[in-house]
Amino acid sequence: MIVSNRLPVDHVSGEGGTAEWRTSPGGLVAALEPVMRQRDGVWIGWPGLADQEFEPFEADGIDLIPVPLSAAEVEDYYEGFSNDTLWPLYHDVISPPSFHREWWEAYQRVNRRFADAALAVAAPNAIVWVHDYQLQLVPKMLRDARPDLIIGFFNHIPFPAYGIYSQLPWRRQIVDGLLGADVVGFQRVADGGNFARAVRRLRGYETRGNIISVPIDDAAAAIDGAAADADEPTAEAPMRHRSVGRRGHAIRTVLARPFPISIDAQEYQRLAADPSIRARAAEIREELGNPRVVMLGVDRLDYTKGIRHRMKAFGELLHDGAVSAEDVVLVQVASPSRERVDAYAQLRDEVEVMVSRINGDFSELGHPAIHYLHQGYPREEMVALYLAADIMLVTALRDGMNLVAKEYVASRTDQDGVLILSEFAGASDELRQALLVNPHDIDGLKAAIVQAMEMPRRERMRRMRTLRKRVLTHDVQRWSATFLDALTREDHHDPANRLD
Ligand code: F6P
Repeated sequence: MIVSNRLPVDHVSGEGGTAEWRTSPGGLVAALEPVMRQRDGVWIGWPGLADQEFEPFEADGIDLIPVPLSAAEVEDYYEGFSNDTLWPLYHDVISPPSFHREWWEAYQRVNRRFADAALAVAAPNAIVWVHDYQLQLVPKMLRDARPDLIIGFFNHIPFPAYGIYSQLPWRRQIVDGLLGADVVGFQRVADGGNFARAVRRLRGYETRGNIISVPIDDAAAAIDGAAADADEPTAEAPMRHRSVGRRGHAIRTVLARPFPISIDAQEYQRLAADPSIRARAAEIREELGNPRVVMLGVDRLDYTKGIRHRMKAFGELLHDGAVSAEDVVLVQVASPSRERVDAYAQLRDEVEVMVSRINGDFSELGHPAIHYLHQGYPREEMVALYLAADIMLVTALRDGMNLVAKEYVASRTDQDGVLILSEFAGASDELRQALLVNPHDIDGLKAAIVQAMEMPRRERMRRMRTLRKRVLTHDVQRWSATFLDALTREDHHDPANRLD
């Protein structure tokens, strides 16, 4: 069973009062959808609309169980605690997080509802895989009620350093919530290290390498008021990974380690080989006026993505005369996201003022410097854009992984194209042949853009070949198989599993 905030499809109202199901935004769904298509199982999540109840249904061969949210819960749990408290906190406080007790109340209530939905359908010993920062309390809620379950948790976004994490007034409850899982997965080595440190500082539990020893009595004692009514684990309960700790008391072990997520690389290769998509890529270049260089940015419109930084660098290059709008264009796809959260509305204004200024100052008739598209596109169009782009700009200020970087690489079956990649995106741990940049260093970013524009074809192809090898061998199928293997093996506290 998968439990995530969103289902893979959102219920959206179309033109003329019609309603339809559409693929949900974001990397989580893009990564998990192919995994679930290949397996039996159910997906529990919110259908993206407030105050609407839906019966379980099937979409594209996946069984879906919708969890309803009221309008007030969308405000307090989703827009509030998830995206205005946890999101900015976990992304190194790029935007200041807000702490509100009513939001925390809603977060607990909604986490309980997701846990109950899973408990209602979980077979004995079922594998339940919980996803992302919106549902960090669910693993413990499941364990307290049903110690027979095999519980995994994967955090798609960064886990912050303790100095930042410790600002959270409910920091202990969240750590306890996560420790309900058998395996807690992170994107990067550093995220797992930050989590282990938070566990040591807040709970004093022993951590050795990737293994955290959770005293069973302590865990039971920490059950919160709501969970106290549920069946508590007993000495007889079939709790996995249970043993005796160094201080002589009963412990269970939790594996906390990196599992860098990926994409369905074969699918991107397949699309990139499709003649109609290749023709569309050529058409896009033509529509752009056949410039010498096409640069591309593809992001949810989010302040973590560094969209303003890349535009500033491009604007300065135009100002310096290093490039001209006739010669070089930037296509920025910024898909709408979390539009009712203030920081997002403000970012949209800032980005749009910047686009207008740069276009006003540097465009030539028929040659806008920036093509700004505040829309989402189907995957086929995205692959055509990737194929049309000479340079892909991924300049996130902080990003768990960034799957766009991997999608670009997988789509470049022609071995061409240059990826400029922020060292603050998890993908930079693996994609070392990209031009790695610090997006705060505008001069460095400008130099990387110039380097990409001038890079000889041989070097572009050499780098792209290495990048492609990595993405094609480390795809999302391998990611999920590795996670599920770690989750289901009995010996996960084996030192062989350590990744120090
Ligand atoms: O990958 C991070 C993430 O927050 C996912 O959990 C989420 O589904 C996606 O980005 C898109 O965000 P949202 O669901 O808030 O639109």
